This record gives sequence, structure tokens and C-alpha cells, in this order.
Amino acid sequence: MTVQIDHALEEIRRFRPSPEFAAQAVAGEELYESARADRLGFWAEQARELLTWQKPFTRTLDWSNPPFAKWFDDGELNVAENCLDRHVEAGLGDRVAIHFEGEPGDSRDITYAELTDEVKRAANMLEGLGIGEGDRVAIYLPMIPEAIVSMLAVARIGAIHSVVFGGFSSDSLASRIDDAEAKLVITADGGYRKGRVFPLKPTVDEAIAKSAGSIENVLVVRRTGNEVDVVDGRDHWWHDTVAEASGEHAAKPFNAEHPLFILYTSGTTGKPKGVVHSSGGYLTQAAFTHKNVFDLHPETDVYWCTADVGWITGHSYVVYGPLANGATQVVYEGTPDTPHPGRWWEIVEKYQVSILYTAPTAIRSFMKLGRQIPHQFNLRSLRLLGSVGEPINPEAWIWYRHVIGGGSIPVVDTWWQTETGAIMISALPGVTDLKPGSAQVAVPGVSIDILTDDGTPVEGEEGGLLVVTEPWPSMLRGIWGDPERFKETYWEKFGDRYFAGDGARRDEDGDIWLLGRVDDVMNVSGHRLSTAEIESSLVAHPWTAEAAVVGASDETTGQAVVAFVILKASQAAHGDDVAAASEELRKHVATQIGAIARPRQVFIVNELPKTRSGKIMRRLLRDLAEGRQIGDTTTLADTSIMQIISEQVK
Ligand code: WT7
Repeated sequence: MTVQIDHALEEIRRFRPSPEFAAQAVAGEELYESARADRLGFWAEQARELLTWQKPFTRTLDWSNPPFAKWFDDGELNVAENCLDRHVEAGLGDRVAIHFEGEPGDSRDITYAELTDEVKRAANMLEGLGIGEGDRVAIYLPMIPEAIVSMLAVARIGAIHSVVFGGFSSDSLASRIDDAEAKLVITADGGYRKGRVFPLKPTVDEAIAKSAGSIENVLVVRRTGNEVDVVDGRDHWWHDTVAEASGEHAAKPFNAEHPLFILYTSGTTGKPKGVVHSSGGYLTQAAFTHKNVFDLHPETDVYWCTADVGWITGHSYVVYGPLANGATQVVYEGTPDTPHPGRWWEIVEKYQVSILYTAPTAIRSFMKLGRQIPHQFNLRSLRLLGSVGEPINPEAWIWYRHVIGGGSIPVVDTWWQTETGAIMISALPGVTDLKPGSAQVAVPGVSIDILTDDGTPVEGEEGGLLVVTEPWPSMLRGIWGDPERFKETYWEKFGDRYFAGDGARRDEDGDIWLLGRVDDVMNVSGHRLSTAEIESSLVAHPWTAEAAVVGASDETTGQAVVAFVILKASQAAHGDDVAAASEELRKHVATQIGAIARPRQVFIVNELPKTRSGKIMRRLLRDLAEGRQIGDTTTLADTSIMQIISEQVK
């Protein structure tokens, strides 16, 4: 069947689940019914059914002190045991947990029994280094099995992990180490990316030198074999330490509300926020959504989520959800186009992947390359596709379903955030008629609404602000060390309703369409970046007097970072070679924050558009960056400014 992709933007068709799919689907309409009848009872039942509790809970939700929620808070469990030991005890020890595929082509299969054994050793090793309950451990690793082992080992002993994406700079790592006062960093000599070794250990050494001094030890995984400096007494090789560690380790129970991890994400200010997640509630919703949204049949499915564990998607849908559910999954270390542009599809064929979860930006890059690349591989094993990170445009949705999925399998678009911990809005395959471009409906047990700015629910199909009206099990429990910021950012606006920071509207069928961020947060390739953070990085450069950053729409990455910079008068000579100056500033941001934050363009200008009170009007700069007619300039202090800037950026 061929589709008219040209008309996809007008796509209003619905795709009914095929009867065959619906007949075998894990989730049915009754999930909505039971959640509607008794929301808390529904979550309690899921928590009991999906997880093993060392001490059963009797209380489901304590919301007596909003916005600080407690779920299942008189219960105790061990998250790692839930992801490992109990599967082995149930006789599933020989099931493959991870099909690991390294970028250079090395691969290994790790069963649940082997993964459990490795995590036990790692847990002993961590305890040997003096890590205990509540201590923070930074993890700065490539996408290799040891990243997953590290997270689970930290969880097993009741410590708290803070995974820092391997693409972040030493400054970013140092500020995260300091904010959480981490005692240990787990890293590697390097990883493979785009066919080359990228060293990680030197970045860790730099970060520790810059940090306030909380780090006592560094554990180093040998992945690439490149030379690294070893600091005596502080640095330890993973393989040496594991060899010494015992394979016996009892999983102690921890309270359901015990913090499981901190994950930093960009906000509207320059300083990233340490989002804190709990144990019992988080694992319940991660497991519930992983099972029902992805229609997981753990005995037969091969699941692959392409996210890195450095992001929340990797936490919930590579580590905790799939492993709690006993899934078999693919973990791939490298980039999609190494050593050839069909690498992902080769992996799907090799492991017979049946469920694929990825981001619209990746799908759009593949669209650009053309269907002949995926068509060189047999993708018939796929039976469900998922999307996350930003709105998926109907054209990409249709392409994904047809070219990758063969035309008739479900595509689920999942809306959620680092803060929500797990999927909040998505179709349930087998139940929901699918609508390309819309994330559709709240998952069972989650309550979503769209409000006007003054907090009244939007009537009809107008756009408004997305809120979650009731607490949910995997909600963030706070911002590390900053309860005020937690209240201010998410709860001040609408009382005890959670303000997500996204615009949204409901269509005539009640389906939800996400309209993008309503704050100064950009979404580049499904990753969240703060305009303020990049602006403060730019003004930290000795040449810069002032900077303004906007997210401009981009065909592949969704949004791209575009910066406008005024040079200091004393540095004005650098403006003579605009290309060189702009390149210098782009590089500076990449070194300070990480390559993902590198601006697509830096324009050197003499002025920025400001209101009479001195506020930069980013909206006008966005018009310019997107090549649109400049909008209303009447509130500018000097209305001719945009004219001048437009001339300069030409
Ligand atoms: C922001 C959260 C959740 C994991 C990846 C990103 C945007 C995410 C969708 C979607 C429309 C989406 C939102 C949200 N977003 N998924 N399916 N449709 N927008 O996590 O870095 O915490 O970013 O990503 O704007 O607020 P994150």
C-alpha cells in the first residue's frame, strides 16, 4: 500500500488496531475502566502485580503535604532485586537480558543470571569502596553493559545514582558532581563513536580537578584500551576490582520512597535541576507503561530502545522498565550511521527486534536518506514502533509506519518528561485508534488537563497549558537540595496541579496534540536545552558583551540553537572575520556544556531587541532565525532595531 506523504500534514485518518493485534494485546479497555473506577486502587494493584515487595505496603498515596507526594510509603522493596534476582528465581536465568552490540561490531549476550551475578559483584565492589545507603555515585559511561550494571549495583545497595551523559563536558560533569556531592565516579577509558575512540577518563580527571572535592574514588571500565592516567589510591580498574569481589550479595529492602536516582535536566535558568526519583512508585509506573504501551510479551519479544542511559528515556525504558518486566533487549553503543547508514536496520534484522522505541529526529534523518537503505534489510520482525522526545510530525509518523513498519503495525507517540519519570500520554496499542501527530490520551491512572493561563480548563479545541491534575506514582519527588525551586517551577502556577511547561490542545475527539514548550526551554533532537544556560556560557567567553539564544525550527533536529552575540567594544576587531568569530563561539559552547548544545549559528550583531524595561524579545529573534516576517515590534524600546539586526545577519 502506498500513501500520499504530501497529504500527511492534513492527516486526520485514524488507524484502527488490526484484529490480530488487538486479540493478542496485553492491554485492554478494562485498564481504563478500572483506573476510572478507583484510581488509587488501580495503582496499588499494579504495584502489587508488577513488583515484588519485601514488605508489602498498606498505604497507596499520601498527598497530605502537596506538592510532596508519597506513594506506597510503608512498603519496602529492592529495585535491583526486582529487575534481576526474582527473574532468576522464577526460572528465567537463561533468558537473554541484553544483546549488546558494540559500535566496532563486537557483541555479547548477557542472560538474567549473568547480569544478576555481575550486579552482585559490582554491589560488593561499591560497598568495598565505602559506598552505602544514600551516598551519591556519578556514572559517566558510554552505552555499554557496565552502565546498566553500575546503575543497578548502586540501586541494590540503596545508594543514589546520578548518570551524566557521556557527551557532556568536564564543566557540566563537575557541576553535577558538586551539586550532588558525589563520592564516586564510575567511568571508562573511552567509548566508540563514529568509528573513533572518544576518551572519557581525561574529562573525569578535569572535572574532579574543577570540583569541590567530594570525590574519593574513581572506578574505570576498560572499553577501548586507550592510555589513561591512573591516580594511585583514587582510581581503580573495574576488571581488577570485580575479580576480587564476591558474587554473593543479599538485596536489602529499602523504603518505597527511598531516592533511587538524581538526573539533571535543563530548566529556564542557567543551572540544571537535579530531578529526584523514588523507588517504589517510579518502578511501578516504569514497568506498567513499558508493559502496556509497548505490548510487551517478554517470552517472545526483542525490544530495543535507542536512547542513551544518560537521559531519562534510558533510565525508564532501557534499565528499569524492561528489566523489571524481564524483557530481552538490544543495547547498542554507537551512532546510527557507523560504519554504514543501514546500521540500525542491520541490528533489527540481526536480533529480530520486534519493538522499536526511538525519537522523531532519528526518523527524520532516515527519511532524508531514503527508503532504499532500510529496504536492504529484513525488518519483518517488527510489530510495534514507539516515538518520544518531541511531537512527531504526521509525515514522519506515516513514513515510520510504512517504510520501517511495513504498513500495518501500531506506532505509539509517547509524551512524558524527565520529571514525570514514565510515559503519561500515549495510545494503548490494541485499544486506541491511532492518529498520526497526536500523542492522544492519558495512560490509565494519569489525569491530564489543559488550562488557560488563569487556571480554568480550556473548553473546545483552543490551545492551552498542559497540566497533570492528580499525583502519579513516578512523579519527581523534588529537585535535589532545592525544595523552593521545585515548588516554584511546577506548582506555583496552578496550586496542586503540576505545570508541565508544554502547550497543548484537544481535538474534537478529545485527543491531545502537543504544541511545544511555553518557556525558555528548547528541544534539540529530543534533548532539552535551556536558552539561559547557553547564553550564560556565551557571555562567559572573553569576547562577548551580551548574548541571546533562541530555538529555531529545524527540519531534522526539531529545533536548533541560534545565538545572537554582541562583542565587547574592546574585542570588536574579532568581528571583522565574522565566520571565524562565530566558529570560535560555537566551539566554546560545545566545550563548556557539550556538543549537543553547540549553536547551529552564531550571529554577531550590534544590538539586541529589547523592551523598554530591558527584556530581550526572543520572539522577534526567532522570527528572524526562522526566516519569517518579523512580528509585532511596537513594544520595543527602539522599533528600528530589528531592521538593523536583519541587515546584519544577512
Ligand atoms: C519535553 C521533556 C521524555 C523523554 C524525552 C525527553 C517534549 C517529549 C514528547 C512527545 C511532544 C514531547 C516536551 C516535554 N516531549 N516527548 N511525544 N510529543 N513533545 O525528556 O528532556 O525531560 O523533555 O520533551 O516538550 O516537556 P525531557
